Amino acid sequence: MIPSHTVDEIKNRIDIVEVVSDFVSLKRKGQSMWACCPFHNEKSPSFSVSPVKGFYKCFGCGKSGDALDFVMEMEKLNYVESLKFLAKKYGIEVQEKELTDDQAQQQSERESLYIVLNAAKEYFTSTLWDSQEGRAIGLSYFQERKMTDAILKKFELGFVKDEWDGFYTHALKNGHTEEMLEKAGLLIVKENKKYDRFRGRVIFPIHNVSGRVVGFGARALKKDDKPKYINSPETSVYVKNQVLYGMFQAKQAIRMAENCFLVEGYTDVTSLHEVGIENVVASSGTSLTEGQIKLIQRFSPTITVLYDGDMAGIKASLRGIDMILAQGLNVKMVLLPEGEDPDSYSKALGAEKFKQYLEDKKEDFIHFKANLLAQEAEKDPIKKAESIKEIVSSIAAIPDAIKRTVYIKEAGDLLQIEEQVLIGELNKILRKKTKSSNYSKTEEAVPVTLQPSEQEAIWDPIEIIKYQEQESIRLLLEYAHVELDQETSLQSYLLNELEDVEFLSEIHAEIFNKFREELGKGNTATIDYFIKNGSPEVRRTVIDIISKKRDISSKWKDKHKIFVPEESEKSHLERTALTNILRLKQRVVRKMLEDNIERLKSVSNETEQTEIQQIHSELKKTETEIASLLGNVILK
Ligand code: GTP
Ligand code: MN
Repeated sequence: MIPSHTVDEIKNRIDIVEVVSDFVSLKRKGQSMWACCPFHNEKSPSFSVSPVKGFYKCFGCGKSGDALDFVMEMEKLNYVESLKFLAKKYGIEVQEKELTDDQAQQQSERESLYIVLNAAKEYFTSTLWDSQEGRAIGLSYFQERKMTDAILKKFELGFVKDEWDGFYTHALKNGHTEEMLEKAGLLIVKENKKYDRFRGRVIFPIHNVSGRVVGFGARALKKDDKPKYINSPETSVYVKNQVLYGMFQAKQAIRMAENCFLVEGYTDVTSLHEVGIENVVASSGTSLTEGQIKLIQRFSPTITVLYDGDMAGIKASLRGIDMILAQGLNVKMVLLPEGEDPDSYSKALGAEKFKQYLEDKKEDFIHFKANLLAQEAEKDPIKKAESIKEIVSSIAAIPDAIKRTVYIKEAGDLLQIEEQVLIGELNKILRKKTKSSNYSKTEEAVPVTLQPSEQEAIWDPIEIIKYQEQESIRLLLEYAHVELDQETSLQSYLLNELEDVEFLSEIHAEIFNKFREELGKGNTATIDYFIKNGSPEVRRTVIDIISKKRDISSKWKDKHKIFVPEESEKSHLERTALTNILRLKQRVVRKMLEDNIERLKSVSNETEQTEIQQIHSELKKTETEIASLLGNVILK
């Protein structure tokens, strides 16, 4: 239970941009900030945050809400947990009322896991820094590996003595339950024995994106200790294919650099931080999963893979990289000399030379692969055909058609093959994909042709009318009060003019009626009014409308002659309103015309046919009228 004054304090302090920025990289465009949506997979940003209005909205998946909603969705927390999360972020102290047994039980298991994992982290770090054994063994191990105190602290590295129940006893004394210890993967319960999972090792805590400890990697101290690493098992807070080591410490740097280095090991991450490279995460020795790729994509469009230079390893991992390409990320590669990993090589070269090395050797993945294959093919001509297929299959994984075309050209040069041959091969793969999978839903899976046909997308007239309806509502929401002349506000003008228009969308009609109702009472229905009083669907629609992505407007305007108001100049507002009305009416009339013609197809007798024809000419007349009015408005 959080006292209400604290809730108010938290809510007043929330800045949606700050909150969202902890998870995705926002870029300002106009009044809003944009990013690739963290809730669904996408390649170009359709997730927007309005700092002024305090909410976010994704035009791709439709998710929307305020900062609290965002935290709830992102961190999978309930309302109270989200408030606490934000309180922590802003350093607001939450004095909770004592929990009753019942409430304590209700506290989510996830929250309890975080608590016990955090307690373990504290135990391991204090053992490292404050115990004699920790300093003698743990700290000197780290120092031998040239890890500075600053890095040890930054990554909250720790140490655990070689005891069966050191942490277990400590945790019980501090009120943690055996059940939670086991659930968190800290305690192993086998037959009648109970003992600590991690013993006599140095500890690498694994953080989630928001910095909470979700698990541990524990490294052996001696070469012949097997296994080298003991890791936490998967739990409800540690879903391994969704977590990347170092992401919490790296995310700001990744965002700034618009690039994320990918390495294999924990110590590769810490070593790169030592030389000042902070945009780095580790896959922890396994190949990247889709969830991990999406995690990176939230912060950066590019991933640079650091590979150690043994040939077998490279060839094996090339396949996995196609998956990264398929997610729409740019992939770069840096090959390290044989036998070196980022940890050893950064130490061998030192900060400046190592950074220079990365800069010099950084190569686009497709080039990298094409070069590799070209070298092989040169030695063995029979392999050439195979190489072509290999490289083309990587290129086919790229969702962006333009990028694919560029790469095909370059691959042709590198492999000295006619572009046509590669295009033929590419189209074969793309067609297969289109048939076999959900690729068929994406427009980008369409095969490339040499003369791209300028086929227009077909737009649903109903969608177009709905769009125009939205624009009317948006005018009302933003400019209801503006006086068009001494007697008429924009609101009364628009509502009056649209009296006879039947709205296609029920929700739009509901919103319109609210405007009418409120106007009847001498009030104005504002954005706030809808957000406070509207049904969830009305709320969503209103947020939708006012946070509408404005940069689609020119495309719509040019291609589909849809009117998108530009109200930058206030004097144009009247014209804007009128044009909007006319456009809406025009669309409605056109739709009626189409429906009417449709009826003609199934006509059964002559009377009906005459009737339809009459309606048709009426509608045509109206359409012409509207068109000429519109012409006047636009020419004015
Ligand atoms: P150092 O040898 O101390 O430099 O460790 P490293 O982090 O560089 O490890 P390495 O390059 O050998 O392996 C890469 C990653 O694979 C490690 O960070 C671990 O996440 C994982 N890994 C390595 N060895 C083991 C193991 O024995 N068991 C498990 N479960 N994971 C391992
Ligand atoms: Mn290593």
